[in-house]
Amino acid sequence: MRRKIAAGNWKMNLDLEGGKQLASEVVNMVTDEVSKDIDVILIPPFTHLTTVKSLISGSSKVKLGAQNCHEEASGAYTGEISLEMLKSVGVEYVVIGHSERREYFGEDNALLAVKTKKVLDAGLTPIFCCGEKLEVREAGKHLELNKEQVEEALFGLSKEEISKVVIAYEPVWAIGTGVTASSDQAQEMHQYIRGVIAEKYDQETADGISILYGGSVKPGNAAEIFAKPDVDGGLVGGASLKSRDFTDIAKGF
Ligand code: 13P
Repeated sequence: MRRKIAAGNWKMNLDLEGGKQLASEVVNMVTDEVSKDIDVILIPPFTHLTTVKSLISGSSKVKLGAQNCHEEASGAYTGEISLEMLKSVGVEYVVIGHSERREYFGEDNALLAVKTKKVLDAGLTPIFCCGEKLEVREAGKHLELNKEQVEEALFGLSKEEISKVVIAYEPVWAIGTGVTASSDQAQEMHQYIRGVIAEKYDQETADGISILYGGSVKPGNAAEIFAKPDVDGGLVGGASLKSRDFTDIAKGF
């Protein structure tokens, strides 16, 4: 059975004090209020990972993720962070191919294929992001584009490897805009992506992969989106910076 996941991508927000406060509040609220067997993943900036890890270590539900990694193991890559470094501070999940990385840092499907494989080789779980821009959806090419992103970045993986990947569908037009995809739009895309994986691998493999929705998820819309059969949770940006909102989203299953 695939896992239900509420993941909070803090992006480049909060100083260490703010991050400590947020992580502590989320752990307390999730412990008190979330009874279902779900994974709650906190994805702070690199500088906060060790501190957040120590704050969540008593919780069986709350896990640690990183927003990015470098694909090389070590060496002269000033400013970059390796997977071994992330592993050594207790990271379990790594976001790969967020649209902001694609847009502002030129990450393409070929690089994301390498990164995803390296995350798996390190024994960590990639959260692989795909999603179309508004003009692609308006041109009716959104299914095609997401298929291409998934195929080019993930289809070099073996069946065993892809089974361990978490996918996040994040339509770019819904990120940080307050405009959420409707639950039907999310379901359509998630079902489609699952079908593409089933066609390449098999139905059992596709059925085991958690596919998250991301883009203006809020307490007021999470439950409706998460209720769709192919939506296994959310990758939350802005609303994950407020412990009350993020916990309420995690209660939306
Ligand atoms: P928002 O929830 O702020 O729209 O961001 C979504 C996102 O990009 C999560 O990775």
